[in-house]
Amino acid sequence: MKSLLSFGVWRTLLLLIGGAVVIMGLFVVRNSMLENNVPPLSTKYLDTSLPVETRIQDLVAQMTLKEKIGQMALVEKNSLTNPSDIATYGLGAVLSGAGAKPEQNTADGWRTMIESFQTQAQSNRLKIPILYGVDAVHGHALLPGTVVFPHQIALGATGDATLVKQIAQVTARDLQMVGANWNYAPNLDLPRDIRWGRVYEAYSDDPLLAARLGSAYVEGLQTYPQANSETMPVLATLKHFVGVGAMQWKTSTNKNFSIDQGKTNDDIEHLEKQYLPPFKSAINAGALSVMVGLNEWGNNRLIRNKSILTGELKTELGFMGFVVSDWYGVYEGVLNKFIASTRAINAGVDMVMLPFDYKTFIKHVTWAHRFGLISTARIDDAVTRIMRAKFALGMFDGIDSREAVVPSLASDQALARTAVAQSLVLLKNTNDVLPLSKTTRHIRVAGSAADNVGRQSGAWTVEWQGVDGNVLTPGTSILQGIKDAVSPQTILEYSLMGEYKTAGQKADVGIAVVGEVPYAEGWGDREYPILSNEDLKTIQNLQANSNQVVVIIVSGRPLLISNEVDSWDALVAAWLPGSEGAGVSDVLFGDKLFMGTLPLPWPKTAEQLPIDVNGITADGTPVLFPRYAGLSY
Ligand code: BGC
Repeated sequence: MKSLLSFGVWRTLLLLIGGAVVIMGLFVVRNSMLENNVPPLSTKYLDTSLPVETRIQDLVAQMTLKEKIGQMALVEKNSLTNPSDIATYGLGAVLSGAGAKPEQNTADGWRTMIESFQTQAQSNRLKIPILYGVDAVHGHALLPGTVVFPHQIALGATGDATLVKQIAQVTARDLQMVGANWNYAPNLDLPRDIRWGRVYEAYSDDPLLAARLGSAYVEGLQTYPQANSETMPVLATLKHFVGVGAMQWKTSTNKNFSIDQGKTNDDIEHLEKQYLPPFKSAINAGALSVMVGLNEWGNNRLIRNKSILTGELKTELGFMGFVVSDWYGVYEGVLNKFIASTRAINAGVDMVMLPFDYKTFIKHVTWAHRFGLISTARIDDAVTRIMRAKFALGMFDGIDSREAVVPSLASDQALARTAVAQSLVLLKNTNDVLPLSKTTRHIRVAGSAADNVGRQSGAWTVEWQGVDGNVLTPGTSILQGIKDAVSPQTILEYSLMGEYKTAGQKADVGIAVVGEVPYAEGWGDREYPILSNEDLKTIQNLQANSNQVVVIIVSGRPLLISNEVDSWDALVAAWLPGSEGAGVSDVLFGDKLFMGTLPLPWPKTAEQLPIDVNGITADGTPVLFPRYAGLSY
């Protein structure tokens, strides 16, 4: 009896397993038949008289599974084993990651490179063009000779949506000119902790300000006025979704970093009240791509968080564009790449950024579909969303909109110079030392950031980590701006460390331009963001040889200066102003007024970090300067 029973159990088990194998086999056969089924070619999607959604449906309906999965891959250009892979795998997009540039880093070099990639895409059956993505986060600053606009935190200090829109339009024009059609901006992170290396990439810790400026940027980038087209010139990307900027210190999942790529421990109420509003507003302004953060929400990576990516973003906010993963994010935190891709796509990621493994990714998604782990409906939804962006760019309308482009370096420089002037925040001005008179008898200038366009520009300028010095980025240093502003009679002396041969005679004013060396991402995480000893010594030298000292801080974030600030006569936060340093002297010498206000609170000590959205510090003590502080003349 006992052995009969166990025989029965075994038989049932075997039958069940056999049945499952047969069903799975049928599934695999059915799905691989679907993959190889090439539907007849229809050209309805090219008919501009039809509604766009009809055209998109027509295109997606005639794509094979292979063509669809290829569209879901975004590949870093230096990782392409062969450019012909764009055609072979039908890739959806290519990017210049971490500042990757063409061999010849000129406008021609960029155009030739991107056009050669588009030619590959055109050799495919359906001729679907690729998106080409760039981090033109403060102008197309990877290309030398282009005007470098102030980083986003400086634009946050201006609070000026019209200015932000104009800068975005210039950026769109410069990208369009070289054939790039996708920008990884604006950044809508809300930085709560100045120890984070990406504070300067954001506008503000205030969701309302980030929402207002982020939407203006989207409008500017996506509606550059073109003579011959109603389509958008460049696609914006809202990044990084979501809760980025609120990660906790020492929670980074990257062993090289401390806070970047860390954990955001917050609740859904805050998510909805604080972190979502900037995205909501920029989506309403027409954004069609959103990049997922590399952070964790609680103990889960956002990349695999269906309730946030699909629930909050796509369903609640009604986002109709596509979700793209960031860098290697799709694979981080999971050992098995097959499982990682499957989970990310099922969570709601539509396009996967793949610095290296695109062939593996395509193979894995194909198999996941065969096994029924990723549904046809999910793949169709992802591809429909990607195509929505491509149609919005007019990619199937046969228009070469580059003809309408008329760049003007002088007007770009004037715009950037205005932005710099508007972004300066005056935090201290004892005895009205500022504005300075242009006929001041004797001025001394010093400091590591005084004659350094590279430092002024910060990272994401020619190189991912930026360039320290005057080597690669043409522009006007802050020192040069001061030289150009003063009268011919003024004695103007410059020394890096504030050491002058004539030190015995005191100058009327010393101007110390000090600050941070460029950094990007987690490489800028710092437990104590402070001025270097060299900078502090320079300020002391100036104090010894000048009657009054104005300190100008060039940095990507507020620095901890509470031990020193009392001894300074004036303090100006200049952020990372970019290539047009003359914007600083415009305000120092009173041609323009100080208009900027702090886009985030300026803490006194590291113990105050993080600071919440209401300006409340971690230890409850008052900050050095609250958000929106800023004096004027
Ligand atoms: C950054 C993104 C950027 C991407 C592409 C990532 O490391 O987090 O902000 O857009 O690289 O360069």
